[in-house]
Amino acid sequence: MRAVGAAVGPTRVAELPGREGERVQVAGWLTHRRGHGAIAFLVVRDGSGEVQAVVRRDHAPEAFARAEGLGQESALRVVGPVRAQPRAPGGYEVEVEELEVLSPAADYPIAPKEHGIEFLLDHRHLWLRHRRPAAVMRIRDTVLWAAEAFLRGEGFVRVDAPILMGTAAENTTQLFRTDYFGEPAYLTQSGQLYAEAAAMALGRVYTLGPTFRAERSKTRRHLLEFWMLEPEMAFCDLEGSMALQERLVTYVVERVLERCGEALRTLERDTAPLERVRPPFPRLRYDDAAEWLRAQGLALGPEEDFGAPHETALSQAFDRPLFVHAFPRAVKPFYMEPEPGRPDRVLAADLLAPEGYGEIIGGSQRIADADLLRRRLQEAGLDEAAYDWYLDLRRYGGVVHSGFGLGIERTVAWIAGLDHVREAVPFPRTYNRLRP
Ligand code: 4AD
Ligand code: MG
Repeated sequence: MRAVGAAVGPTRVAELPGREGERVQVAGWLTHRRGHGAIAFLVVRDGSGEVQAVVRRDHAPEAFARAEGLGQESALRVVGPVRAQPRAPGGYEVEVEELEVLSPAADYPIAPKEHGIEFLLDHRHLWLRHRRPAAVMRIRDTVLWAAEAFLRGEGFVRVDAPILMGTAAENTTQLFRTDYFGEPAYLTQSGQLYAEAAAMALGRVYTLGPTFRAERSKTRRHLLEFWMLEPEMAFCDLEGSMALQERLVTYVVERVLERCGEALRTLERDTAPLERVRPPFPRLRYDDAAEWLRAQGLALGPEEDFGAPHETALSQAFDRPLFVHAFPRAVKPFYMEPEPGRPDRVLAADLLAPEGYGEIIGGSQRIADADLLRRRLQEAGLDEAAYDWYLDLRRYGGVVHSGFGLGIERTVAWIAGLDHVREAVPFPRTYNRLRP
């Protein structure tokens, strides 16, 4: 048995099943300690799971003395035989023969008592160690893994878009500005424009990375920094893109149900609504959705974009994800293809997650024609010269192409059943929070 970091390391808690009777070493952090006279129970967490370490004074007097007074989150290593213990967290326990304190801790600030959300977010660096946040991170990891696995299986190539931009990708009001050696630069709002260039080179591509929006909104759906997955497909219309979105979202939900059962139970997520996620997803034109919303008594101006209450109402009305499409041109960015025969509507679709979660995907068919795109840039008040490279994509073999952006945190918040997207990212950046 060697120390932590040596070639023969400790046994991971997740690997204890099937090793009953073996003498193992487990290294981790003390999550919880309780004692009854001559016996101490230490719950040790190593990142892969939790195991109960039982220390008896008569059996291991030295270990027992070390365990006494050991504070929550002390790092320790225990050695001893494993046995099944259905009453213990994780279902196993280690009968401790040796105990080494690797790093003692005292006065750990997050007590088992209830803390307010701001306190927990101030201590996010420590809060991540707890069961709920850790369960969310496992679901997030599975969402990202599954989404990439799906796309690769469909022949997509991952390309990475730059973070520093010379031009706006979505709109000019929500840009984070920075200084690029005396020239203004912006943090990316979307990798889309670069994904379009890459799609003309590689056919089917996706970008995956952080994106930034200087949103002053403090809703449960908005972060200033969020991760977006953006597939882009050459020779694909909006219909083709929506069909792919249905399959992608279904695949991701299925993989989470299959692999994250314990995390979903930790979060007390009712999985019945997730099990209903199957194509085809219902579709509503914007005009029909708007009419329905007004009939429900919600205020909505003519050609007005949906706000949080509208999205919530729509996404509560269906038991599966819902596509809203054919939006007014005025509420969408400059690059969207007009609907044939309805120049005031664009070939755009948002996918709203059910149970009140709202938009998780925004996508569209892109303008293929250089002259129309130039006109739209002018109408949007954007500097045509800055988009010259983007116009080149139409000058040199412009083709029908479509793509979409799936917000990772919104998707995770929905699947994990969270109240707020800030819990779906390890270190959230919101209007009032830049630390830790
Ligand atoms: O609808 P959006 O703005 O679309 C785009 O950026 C396109 N360029 C995507 C594309 O076609 N390639 O954003 C896409 C998704 C939203 O549906 C939402 O899930 C997420 O990104 N999103 C946010 N998530 C958290 N906080 C915010 N402030 C978000 N803004 C958008
Ligand atoms: Mg959108």
